[in-house]
Amino acid sequence: MMLWIYDPATQGAARDYGTPAPVPEYSAEYAALEQVSLSIDGRQVSVPRGTSVLRAAALAGISIPKLCATDALDAFGSCRLCLVEIAGRKGYPASCTTPVEEGVAVTTQNGKLARLRRNVMELYISDHPLDCLTCPANGNCELQDMAGAVGLREVRYGYDGRNHLDAKKDTSNPYFTFDPSKCIVCSRCVRACEEVQGTFALTIAGRGFDSKVAPGQSQPFMDSGCVSCGACVQHCPTATLVENSIVEHGQPEHSVLTTCAYCGVGCAFEARMKGDKVVTMVPWKDGGANRGHSCVKGRFAFGYATHPDRITTPMIRDAIDQPWRTVSWEEAIAFAARRLREVQQTYGRKSIGAINSSRCTNEETYLVQKMVRTAFGNNNIDTCARVCHSPTGYGLKATLGESAGTQNFDSVDKADVVMVIGANPTDGHPVFASRLKRRLRQGARLIVVDPRRIDLVKSPHVHADHHLPLRPGTNVAFINAMAHVIVSEGLEDREFISRRCDQASFQEWLEFIGDPRHAPEQVAQATGIDPTELRAAARLYATGGNGAIYYGLGVTEHSQGSTMVMGIANLAMLTGNIGRDGVGVNPLRGQNNVQGSCDMGSFPHELPGYRPVKDEAVRASFERAWQVELDPVAGLRIPNMLDEAVAGNFRALYCQGEDIAQSDPNTQHVEAALRSLDCLIVQDIFLNETARFAHVFLPGSSFLEKDGTFTNAERRISRVRRVMAPLGGKADWETTMALSTALGYPMSYAHPAQIMAEIAALTPSFHGVSYERLDQEGSIQWPCNEAAPHGTPVMHVEKFTRGKGLFVVTEYVASDEKVTPRFPLLLTTGRILSQYNVGAQTRRTANIAWHHEDVLEIHPHDAEDRGITDGDLVAITSRVGETTLRARLSERMQPGVVYTTFHHPLSGANVITTENSDWATNCPEYKVTAVQLRKAAGPSSWQQEHSRFDRQQLHHAHLD
Ligand code: SF4
Ligand code: SF4
Ligand code: SF4
Ligand code: FES
Repeated sequence: MMLWIYDPATQGAARDYGTPAPVPEYSAEYAALEQVSLSIDGRQVSVPRGTSVLRAAALAGISIPKLCATDALDAFGSCRLCLVEIAGRKGYPASCTTPVEEGVAVTTQNGKLARLRRNVMELYISDHPLDCLTCPANGNCELQDMAGAVGLREVRYGYDGRNHLDAKKDTSNPYFTFDPSKCIVCSRCVRACEEVQGTFALTIAGRGFDSKVAPGQSQPFMDSGCVSCGACVQHCPTATLVENSIVEHGQPEHSVLTTCAYCGVGCAFEARMKGDKVVTMVPWKDGGANRGHSCVKGRFAFGYATHPDRITTPMIRDAIDQPWRTVSWEEAIAFAARRLREVQQTYGRKSIGAINSSRCTNEETYLVQKMVRTAFGNNNIDTCARVCHSPTGYGLKATLGESAGTQNFDSVDKADVVMVIGANPTDGHPVFASRLKRRLRQGARLIVVDPRRIDLVKSPHVHADHHLPLRPGTNVAFINAMAHVIVSEGLEDREFISRRCDQASFQEWLEFIGDPRHAPEQVAQATGIDPTELRAAARLYATGGNGAIYYGLGVTEHSQGSTMVMGIANLAMLTGNIGRDGVGVNPLRGQNNVQGSCDMGSFPHELPGYRPVKDEAVRASFERAWQVELDPVAGLRIPNMLDEAVAGNFRALYCQGEDIAQSDPNTQHVEAALRSLDCLIVQDIFLNETARFAHVFLPGSSFLEKDGTFTNAERRISRVRRVMAPLGGKADWETTMALSTALGYPMSYAHPAQIMAEIAALTPSFHGVSYERLDQEGSIQWPCNEAAPHGTPVMHVEKFTRGKGLFVVTEYVASDEKVTPRFPLLLTTGRILSQYNVGAQTRRTANIAWHHEDVLEIHPHDAEDRGITDGDLVAITSRVGETTLRARLSERMQPGVVYTTFHHPLSGANVITTENSDWATNCPEYKVTAVQLRKAAGPSSWQQEHSRFDRQQLHHAHLD
């Protein structure tokens, strides 16, 4: 029975060629491999040297039975099902472990081979439950397929002897079940965990008949080191490891190719469906960003899309202390438009604005900024990138000429030295982390710069050469010291600098950086980094071959975030580590579409493509297209909007897909600003924290409910495809169109493809982008235009976008946020693997099993000084507020630094973060807050008040 229905969008399930290509097919080396010719079943075949016979046959369309082999994993040769005959050779070699040779003649099918294969299958089946008809894998099981392929009709041995049929199931993982009675011990799961995921959570324990798959120390999956990435489930050829959703709903029947809506890695997935129900999300083998891998969020945590908390009916209210009234879309849009216009009539054109979301598509963020600039008549548009990677945009534009990372993820395969600064990829960007770890296992060296001992510092088969545990807030002192060592020891790449960089800026910078005050020994007291370690790390980065820098919010969310980004770019240029594979400056973007929302003109001073609104020629091109005169003056950033709201000048806000009451710093200030608005329109899939202050709630749509594109951290534009109808009746782009039209600026796109066509026409770096081309090529990295019709995997190859690379002087200025006797500890924040940002999505999935509350990580010495023990409720006080969290004693922390995540609203992490921000972009300084701790008797007053609000809000939404 064939269960898989061909779907033109995905071309059905990807074909498995049995073993990987000798080098990745996407690499430049693949095309250059020498070809080897041989005959298989009389057919002449030419394949690259190093290809296995199994793969060569598959490429020629000849299927050889196999079980332990799959092209995602190195050949293993354990099942003996893929035996072939090679003329002139003795025996029957396994085709998966036999490389092709010039001129050989291979036979894959004859009577002897058929008998041997049947015997092998017979042994497997004799220890396998015969419950195919009720098995969840029925119809999508390789064991079942292979039994058919080898013609096994009956088993001679009977089922009375020793077997594993009574082996106990492990149901500890919320997403998949392990049923050892069905295991054929092919080791694909173990190898997937090692080779693809890099976690090494599984082993084959025991020998011979007793050998079995064992998570951790023969523990349940949930108690082992398993991070629930799903790779073992994906590659298991039987129903031993099977998704619970398949057990519940049955095998999917068709699929749609789409893109994960969580982090900036941008993994491609097949949404495998039964009717309009997503049964499973399977990572797409040809996904340019993920190459067939996934993490627990994209793979399993999609259930939030149909969670009962979804608000699917528009709601309005005259004042925020009133209950919500559910109304029609027409009434809600008319109400919102009337309020916005009333505010403008009373307080002026610039008294309203909007915040769009990096969770939404390019087309949606483009439309929101267009509506602001046309229908609102001002430039008061900002995006959540303000609070994460805006310094990346500023710093890379200034130095290299483009507000984006320089590489693709494939590039890490060529890196010799990787420096990870202020990022925790195994939690924040897990699929990239797996690729990085694979490169590290191949021998690349690693420098980790982070206040905490993150997992990358030491994990199975990965050990950082240098961990530089800097004090939060001293990034710039650190990066200057790195450059100082390189310059003072003559390790710079003079040829690159003279050929590629602006000489005047280099000379000025050289004079600055050569000053002894930047020496590691001089900055050691501020940074806390051992100067010897720093010197060794600098030498390694400068001389170790291809040096690649990957960084995250630990770089940007500082008062000197932009300075640090420029310091990183300086360092890469200084060492010639830019403009080719294996090197570069790589921001690990937070949200799925943070790159895209910035590209789409979501900043108040820039139109799409990072072109200044104050530039008359740029404005004129948009005015012609949009048929409206544009305001030449930059608008308000989010912090300015909030300040002006408190001051009474900014009176109305349209907030799409952002929860600023939870995500932005200094919650008290944010709440005061929101409370003072005359009209707050919130568009979201759930009644979020910000909606407590809203007058209009417009139901949002999840990524499963709409068409569009996301742009990931590599500048890769990927399609998001609708797999089910919007639960609220409208996709987000349709809502913005309706609001804009009601405001008197009609919009009438029939499909997001038309919006992309407009973006492409107006944005030079997108000129070549269209849905047709995306459908053909899968994904495209911008710039994609006449000069680069298939996109640009690596930027700045011949020259920088700005011409010559600009060195910028990066003076270290200590943060205003200093430890004092009153606040003697520094709080820094971050994310964990299972939850995502404010947790609105992941908290509504079974991921809650891994992280049901935020905790405060604290070094045992700091805890002991304060009489705090593991699990105590602790009050954390900063100069702006107080909240409480449970303490977790952890030697990952350095003394003097504490850490928490911000995935749960009631944690109130942002009640204590301050108003400090990056000097250039106002990106908040989330990573540095001076705090004091004490044991607490109960929740803080903010938390008590907040939980009361939550209950009221839900009551109003659901019972009114
Ligand atoms: S669990 Fe699946 S993949 Fe792992 S050894 Fe058993 S059959 Fe093979
Ligand atoms: S789910 Fe991922 S981490 Fe867990 S055992 Fe399987 S491959 Fe390893
Ligand atoms: S790594 Fe990021 S994009 Fe990929 S599946 Fe996980 S959350 Fe989604
Ligand atoms: S597929 Fe070749 S030995 Fe298993």
